[in-house]
Amino acid sequence: MKDEEDKRPSSPVSRLTSTGSLDPVAQVLAQFAEESARGVASRAEFERLKGRFLGREKGLVPGLFARLRELPPPERAAFGSRANAAKREIEQQVARLAEEISRREAENRDRSDAVDVTLPGRAGQIGGLHPVTVVRRRIERIFLRMGYSVADGPEIENDRYNFEALNFPPDHPARDSQDTFFLDRKARSPLLLRTHTSPVQIREMEKRGAPLKIIIPGRVYRNESVDATHAAVFNQVEGLVVDGGISMADLKGTVEEFFGALFGRDTKARFIPTFFPFVEPGVDIAASCIFCKGNGCGKCKGSGWIELAGAGMVHPRVLAGCGIDPEAFTGFAFGLGLDRVALLLYEFPDLRLLLEGDVRFLRQFAREA
Ligand code: FA5
Repeated sequence: MKDEEDKRPSSPVSRLTSTGSLDPVAQVLAQFAEESARGVASRAEFERLKGRFLGREKGLVPGLFARLRELPPPERAAFGSRANAAKREIEQQVARLAEEISRREAENRDRSDAVDVTLPGRAGQIGGLHPVTVVRRRIERIFLRMGYSVADGPEIENDRYNFEALNFPPDHPARDSQDTFFLDRKARSPLLLRTHTSPVQIREMEKRGAPLKIIIPGRVYRNESVDATHAAVFNQVEGLVVDGGISMADLKGTVEEFFGALFGRDTKARFIPTFFPFVEPGVDIAASCIFCKGNGCGKCKGSGWIELAGAGMVHPRVLAGCGIDPEAFTGFAFGLGLDRVALLLYEFPDLRLLLEGDVRFLRQFAREA
């Protein structure tokens, strides 16, 4: 390394004026020597130093040349040559500082890019499937094994598919049990959020005719008073089989097989008559309580049964409306509440947990598939 002294300007550049004070050239050099000796900590500081001395507008060095005109002509040549020497000197020093700052920046970059291979690894956070997705996939696998295929339909439906084609006449009181959110009441068939997966029955029968053997999982919406077992956004799995000679016995056998595969082989299915406009006869289906095996407990409110689905034989008027001859084909359908199945299988107390996105709850299912 060069000695600081070596870099200091030497005569003839530094001179005393006649009054004994440093002349302007020497003053600028002295100031530069003092400031550059302090060093520059950052590029911004370097740029400030460079600007103060060499800046074209207000730099001290260009300022020296501006003074030339004020000097008596005989002194100009000598002053000019000393000012040029000072300029060269300062430019050299500035170039040296520029190199130094670039080198330091490169070193910092290398240091921050460096990988310390001895550090312990950081474990990644692995996500998991939502419990409703886990249950949906389990149910899909059970039905795929029984030869069903999986169908899908829109969540924004129109009144025709959600109600009319399912034999809910306008103003029929059965619509009250499925109050929903309308998106466009003025459309030719008003647009709404579907209240059940049953409209996809109609779409599939219209599109594919008979025979048909499908399940339809999906999200549905109702204008519902929300509580531990009622959500306003929940999930259903619809089942539909249409073929020659399908009977209520097929429905019962299918539901028993399904409950057995999902909840355990000792689970029974109970059918109780009820009304849905699109089936005849219609039933509510309950499973024997998987906690008390039907003896009655807190979970089943002492009844021994837990209600999970609506079902029935597809109404001949619905088949005919979809272009299927009800004399040649019969069918059964069911609609199962998926969230309630999840609640039963995983024994959590409130459906609303499924929608809240609380990772402390959801993390518990991360290992399920
Ligand atoms: C229906 O939605 C009919 N579409 C079912 C059906 C399909 C009948 C095919 C006949 C043939 P229901 O409104 O009962 O029926 O709902 C079916 C199931 O969805 C219920 O048994 C229940 O498990 C679930 N469910 C209904 N309302 C809610 C709610 N607010 N929150 C969570 N689950 C619900």
